[in-house]
This record gives sequence, structure tokens and C-alpha cells, in this order.
Amino acid sequence: MSANAPIADELVLGTAMWGWTVDKVTAFQLLDAWYAAGQRKVDTATNYPIDRVPEHFRLAEQILAEWIRANGVEDLQVNIKVGSLNNMHTPDHLLTRSFMLMMLDEYQFLFGNNLQTFMVHWDNREDEREIEDTFRAFGEVVAKGLRPGLSGIRHPEIYASLNGTYGFDFDIQLKHNVVQSDVERYARHFSARCFYAYGINAGGLKLEEGYSDQSSIKARGADPEKFDSLLNGIRTVIAQAKENKNRPALNAMHQVGLIYAAYHPQMKGVLVGPSKVHQLESTLDFFRSLRQYDYRDVYEELVKLNQN
Ligand SMILES: NC(=O)c1ccc[n+]([C@@H]2O[C@H](COP(=O)([O-])OP(=O)(O)OC[C@H]3O[C@@H](n4cnc5c(N)ncnc54)[C@H](OP(=O)(O)O)[C@@H]3O)[C@@H](O)[C@H]2O)c1
Repeated sequence: MSANAPIADELVLGTAMWGWTVDKVTAFQLLDAWYAAGQRKVDTATNYPIDRVPEHFRLAEQILAEWIRANGVEDLQVNIKVGSLNNMHTPDHLLTRSFMLMMLDEYQFLFGNNLQTFMVHWDNREDEREIEDTFRAFGEVVAKGLRPGLSGIRHPEIYASLNGTYGFDFDIQLKHNVVQSDVERYARHFSARCFYAYGINAGGLKLEEGYSDQSSIKARGADPEKFDSLLNGIRTVIAQAKENKNRPALNAMHQVGLIYAAYHPQMKGVLVGPSKVHQLESTLDFFRSLRQYDYRDVYEELVKLNQN
């Protein structure tokens, strides 16, 4: 990779834990701080929070819509991911053209001018004709001036092949962190700089802080102890990085996650999921540092760590 390759320049505020570990008051504070910092991009999905509580189906989008209404905001850039039929973490989804268009109407009504991107959320299908039906809906998404997008696609090769005919400029969300990355699975079929990384903290892994019952990683059912050896590897990388005194030292997982995502050459943006305002502020602070200081050497060491 060239030393002058651009790094990802967009941040998107995630809402996956809103209504779950993040209550409405905190979500409003996060949006206040995000907006005040000049940030406009927000990501949500019909099935957030995926906490398997049926009454919470569509709760994250409702919190977001309520904040928009309360503040009379018209210039957010909301990304909505559609297709899921519940928040039970099942693969039940509907991506027919007619259902997609119904959802499009629904979200244009809910978010108004704040709606920017309309994404398929999770697609396990392998029938090309069925997927082409979804492409027809994307045609209408684009005709309305919105961006089309993909997230959680089991067969990106089918999407890429169909797109040879349709030529959509997709934004693509994919998991990308030091523990696990889906980049290669998509990069084989999509060569543009069109990726948005999510899960940059591996769902809430901490380098130094401890965990509580409200910790995101625990709520999601993962065991942080499984990652002890990888975390030790990361600690070694950031200890070495401290030898360079010309830039702020690293000490937290969100910094590592931002470096690992932002320096990937196909990364256009990074989804961040702060659960508290101080996390949001530290994320924005470090994103600013990434523009000011060079952390490419750290990125390269993290890539090696991931390969071992
Ligand atoms: N396309 C998809 O299928 C998909 C999948 C997943 C997510 N997403 C989107 O991407 C967004 C982010 O994903 P994610 O929640 O998995 O991201 P993540 O960054 O891996 O995990 C977020 C958690 O990391 C911790 N954290 C974040 N910033 C921090 C900071 N500055 N300091 C300390 N801890 C920090 C918090 O944990 P604690 O709360 O425990 O402190 C937070 O809840 C989601 O909200 C969603 O919008 C999309």
C-alpha cells in the first residue's frame, strides 16, 4: 500500500445497542453530541436492537425518529438497513421488490430529508432471479436520489455479477476488526473504495478497562476471555508504537480499531458504536488524531498480528 494512500474519511454513528444497553436518554445525548460535533451520518436497521425482546422490534429507529422530530433536524444522513422481519436474530427476511418499496415509503415518511442510504440487511439467498428482484427495487431507490447499499450478504459474487448489468454504486457494510474481517470475502468481487467497517471494537472488547453486566460484549453473549492472547499481542504493538514520541500514545481498543479500519485501502468509512458520551468524544478525538499523525506503522503491525 502506498504511504500516501487515503484513509477512511467518514464516521457513522451506530444504533445497534439503542433500547438495549443504551437507553433513550443516553441515545439522545449521543445524538446531541454527534450533531454538535458536525457529524451527520447515522446507521440503523429495522431489527435494532437485536436483543430478542419482541416489544423492542424497531425501537432504535423510533428513538432516532423521535430525536429528529424533537430537534426539527433535516440534514442528518441516515442509513437504514431493511429486510429483517423480527429482532430475534433469525435469518427471516423479505427482500422482494414489493417489500423493499414498501419499506422505502415507510422510511421516507419516517426520516424525510434525513434519509440518505437504503441497504439490504442480511441476504442468504443464492437464487439469482430472486436477487434480481431486489435490484429492481434498488433502481427506484436510486431514482429517488438515495444511495443503495449492502450489508450481511452471503453471496456477494451474485450481487457483483448482476451489478455488471445494473452498475449501482453500492456502499457496503462489513465486519472488520483485528479478531475477524470479512473484507477479503467482498474485495474479491468489489474493487472500489466502498466499504464501511463495523464492529471495530469486536463488539466491545476492552484493552485495559474491565467489564460490567451492562457491557456490550457481554450483552451480546461473547466471552471476552477468549481474546486474552490477541489482546496481549495488541498491547505489545502499542507498547512499541510508544517509542515514536511525535504523536499521541495509544492505550485503548477503539484507537486500535479505528487504525485497523481506517487504513484499509478500500475503507470509505467507519461505523462507531459508542455507548456513552465520553466514548463518543474519545472516538472523535482519536479520529481527528488519525488525520494529523501517521499511524501506518501500527496498522501494518496489526495486520501481521491478524495473520498469525
Ligand atoms: N451491518 C451489520 O450487520 C452490522 C452489524 C453490526 C453493527 N453494525 C453497525 O455498526 C455499529 C457499530 O457496531 P458495533 O456496536 O458492533 O461496534 P463496536 O465498536 O465493535 O462495539 C461497540 C462497543 O465498543 C465499546 N466502545 C465503543 N467506543 C468506545 C470508546 N471510545 N471507548 C471505550 N469503549 C468503546 C462499547 O462497549 P461498552 O458499551 O461495553 O462500553 C460499545 O458498546 C452498530 O451500532 C451498527 O449500527 C452493522
